[in-house]
Amino acid sequence: MEGTITNFIYLICISLFIIGLKKLSHPDSARTGNLLAAAGMIGAIIVALFAPLESGSNNYAWIAGGIVVGSIIGLTVAKKILMTKMPEMVSLFNGLGGACAMLISIVEFYNPPAGSSLLTGQMITTFFALFVGSISFTGSLVAYGKLDGFLRDSLVLPAPKVINLILLIIIIGFSAYTLMQPELNFNYVLAVLVLSLLYGVTFVTPIGGGDMPVVISLLNSFTGIGAALAGLIYGNQVMLVGGILVGASGTILTILMCKAMNRSLFNVIIGGFTATGGGPGESKDGVAKEASYADTAIMLKYAQKVIVVPGYGMAVAQAQHTVHDLEKTLEAEGVGFKYAIHPVAGRMPGHMNVLLAEADVPYPKLLDLDDANKEFPTTDVVLVIGANDVVNPAAKTDTSSPIYGMPILDVELAKNVVVLKRSMNPGYAGIQNQLFFGERTRMLFGDAKSSLSKLIEEVNNA
Ligand code: TAP
Repeated sequence: MEGTITNFIYLICISLFIIGLKKLSHPDSARTGNLLAAAGMIGAIIVALFAPLESGSNNYAWIAGGIVVGSIIGLTVAKKILMTKMPEMVSLFNGLGGACAMLISIVEFYNPPAGSSLLTGQMITTFFALFVGSISFTGSLVAYGKLDGFLRDSLVLPAPKVINLILLIIIIGFSAYTLMQPELNFNYVLAVLVLSLLYGVTFVTPIGGGDMPVVISLLNSFTGIGAALAGLIYGNQVMLVGGILVGASGTILTILMCKAMNRSLFNVIIGGFTATGGGPGESKDGVAKEASYADTAIMLKYAQKVIVVPGYGMAVAQAQHTVHDLEKTLEAEGVGFKYAIHPVAGRMPGHMNVLLAEADVPYPKLLDLDDANKEFPTTDVVLVIGANDVVNPAAKTDTSSPIYGMPILDVELAKNVVVLKRSMNPGYAGIQNQLFFGERTRMLFGDAKSSLSKLIEEVNNA
C-alpha cells in the first residue's frame, strides 16, 4: 500500500516536471513553469526521504546534514552571483550533477553483489553512470574555466583526436575486463574513474571558439543521462524520468545548437577547433571610424527602422532596461524598433531572451537569425550592443577562422551600423572583426549602458 502511495506521488511530481518544462518554452509562462518543476522536485525529495523507512533503513542524520550544508552554499552563491556570471554558475551546478552520478556509482561498487556474475545489467549500468558522470563533472569544470576566462582556448593538447580516441578505447576495454572478473576489484573501478575524469578534461579542453555553446548543452545532457542511470541503479522512477527529461532536452538543444552553428556533432566532439584568426587590433582594411552621440541620435530619430543586435556586452553592462527605454523613446518618435537574436549571443542558451524578457521587451519584437537577415537590407540603422563574434563576417569568408561556417547576423547589409563597445578588443573567439572597419560602420566607444543613456538624452534634445 505504502509503495502504491509513493509511486502515485512520484507520478504527480513527474507530471509537474513535464508541465513545468512545457511552460519554460515561453517567456510569459517560464516563471510559473520553473515554480511547478521546483514544487515537483521538493515533493520528490520528501517522498524519497520517507520511502526508505519501509525497509527500516535510514541515514537521516547524513541526509539532513547534506541538505543544510548544500542549501546554505546554494543560497549564498545564488544570491551573490552577478547576472554576468550566471553561465559559469550553471556550468558548475551541471558539473555537480555529474559528480552525484559518479559518487552514487562508486558507492554501489564499494558494496558489490557477492558471488554472482558481475556481467549483469545493473553492473553495466553502474559503470556507464560512473563514466558519464565523471566526464560531465570534469568537463563542466573545464567549461567553467573557459567561460570565466582563466582557461584560454589557446591551451591546446597535442593531437587531441588521437588522445581522446585512445582514452575512450582504454576505458571501454578496461571496464569490460573488470566486469569479466570472478570478483569485483575495487582498484580497477578506481582506475576507470581516474581515466574517465581525465577524459572529461581532454574532451572539453581542445574545444573553443564558436563550439563552446554546443559542448555546454552536450554536458548538460550527459548530466541528465547520469541522473537517469542513477535512477535505474536505485530503481527510483522519479530520478529516472527527471534524468531522461534533462538528458532528452539537453540532446535536443545540442542538435539545435549544432544546426545554428552549422557544425556536425561529431566534428565538435573530436574536431577541437581553436582560435587561429587575427589578434586584437589587427586590421587588413585601415582604421575604424568613430561616431558621435549627437550624430547617432539624429540618425536614430529620423530612421524608419532600427534593429538592435544585443550580445554578451549588453549582459556585462546590464543595459537591457536602458535598451528598452531607447526603444520606447524612438517608438514615440514613430521609429520601428526590433531586436535580432543570434542563437549563441552571450554565454548561455537563451541568454539575450532572458535579459530582454527581464526588461519587459515584448517577445514579438525579437527576430530570429533568418528573419533578421531578411530585414537588414531595408534597415536604416543597426545598433550592435556589446556583440562581436555573432556579427563577424569572417564566419562567411575566412576559412582559417575559428568561427568559420557559423551563420551570423548580416548587419553589414543595413544602411548604417553603429557598434557600441568599450574598445577594439575582440570577443569570446579572440579574433578581430572586419565589420568594425566597414564603409557603413561607426564605433561608439564606452560602456553600453552609459552610451545608451547618453543616446536617449540626445534623442530627446534633438
Ligand atoms: P562576444 O563575441 O563575446 O563579444 C562581446 C563584446 O562585448 C566584446 O567584444 C566586448 O568588447 C563587448 N563588451 C564587454 N563589456 C561591455 C560593456 N560593458 N559595454 C559595451 N560592450 C562591452 O559576444 P557575442 O557577439 O554575444 O558572441 C558570443 C560568443 O560567446 C560566441 O563566440 C559564442 O560562441 C560564445 N559562447 C556562447 C555561448 C552561448 S550558449 N551563448 C556559450 C559559450 C560561448 P569591449 O571589451 O571592447 O567592450
